[in-house]
Amino acid sequence: MMTLEGKVAVVTGGSSGIGASTVRRLAEAGARVVIGYYQGADRAEALRASLPGAGHECVSLPLEDPPAAAALARHLRDTAGRLDILVNSAGYTRPIPHADLDTLDDALFGEILLANARGPFTVVRALLPLLKAAGDAVVVNVSSFAAFRGSGSNIAYGAAKAALDTMTMSMARAFGPEVRFLCVSPGAVATDFVAGRGRDTLEKLAASTPLKRVVEPEDVASAVLACVTHLRASTGIRIVVDGGRHL
Ligand SMILES: NC(=O)c1ccc[n+]([C@@H]2O[C@H](COP(=O)([O-])OP(=O)(O)OC[C@H]3O[C@@H](n4cnc5c(N)ncnc54)[C@H](OP(=O)(O)O)[C@@H]3O)[C@@H](O)[C@H]2O)c1
Repeated sequence: MMTLEGKVAVVTGGSSGIGASTVRRLAEAGARVVIGYYQGADRAEALRASLPGAGHECVSLPLEDPPAAAALARHLRDTAGRLDILVNSAGYTRPIPHADLDTLDDALFGEILLANARGPFTVVRALLPLLKAAGDAVVVNVSSFAAFRGSGSNIAYGAAKAALDTMTMSMARAFGPEVRFLCVSPGAVATDFVAGRGRDTLEKLAASTPLKRVVEPEDVASAVLACVTHLRASTGIRIVVDGGRHL
């Protein structure tokens, strides 16, 4: 594993699930990590205290609050003076059957689009000057299998993640060579992301996939690390981490 000593990373949604696993892997590789959280301040702090290395921080980073991203940019400029790695893992959904268009009302559609598409855009916009200045930076957007299958927890969620995928391509084209942009696109992962989805449901889903294994947050974090450390000639692509479920 390539060392990330001296690199600075921001992980949105670093307080739980895929984001928390990614924070740990980045810190183990030597990076100094800023853990973005929303309601999980205590979880974020417990994670920070357990990490190897020094200089890790927790920052409140609500997706619906662009000034928070701008404040983080100022803070990083004044302290670390650089940003090498941004992982957009924060996201939000609600399980709604696709045939139930009434429950997915306009307000909820907007909330889901904001959390999964505009939110990451706002964070990238605020942090881009620091990423560009690093000269060899990478942004990894945690998207979803729902983006290219039109499946997932509800119709707006798939649409929002598809938007995130196309933004990833647009930004990859616009901001190379200084910054690479990639998506990591999981299928169902063993986190609490989808309310009411238990381990039994995940195991049933996994049984119907070629690899017949439940995808764990660590599997997704490994793919994120691979984007950072190994896929250095790639930008504007998606890495699917779904046990082959899309096949
Ligand atoms: N789990 C899956 O099956 C699956 C599949 C495909 C893609 N994904 C994607 O993976 C990413 C991470 O999800 P996860 O599975 O790790 O779920 P998770 O454990 O529920 O983590 C979600 C994270 O997003 C943060 N968050 C939620 N709403 C936010 C808001 N309004 N502002 C800022 N942060 C907010 C949460 O922060 P707090 O905890 O601090 O509130 C938490 O850290 C998401 O983008 C999701 O779309 C997940």
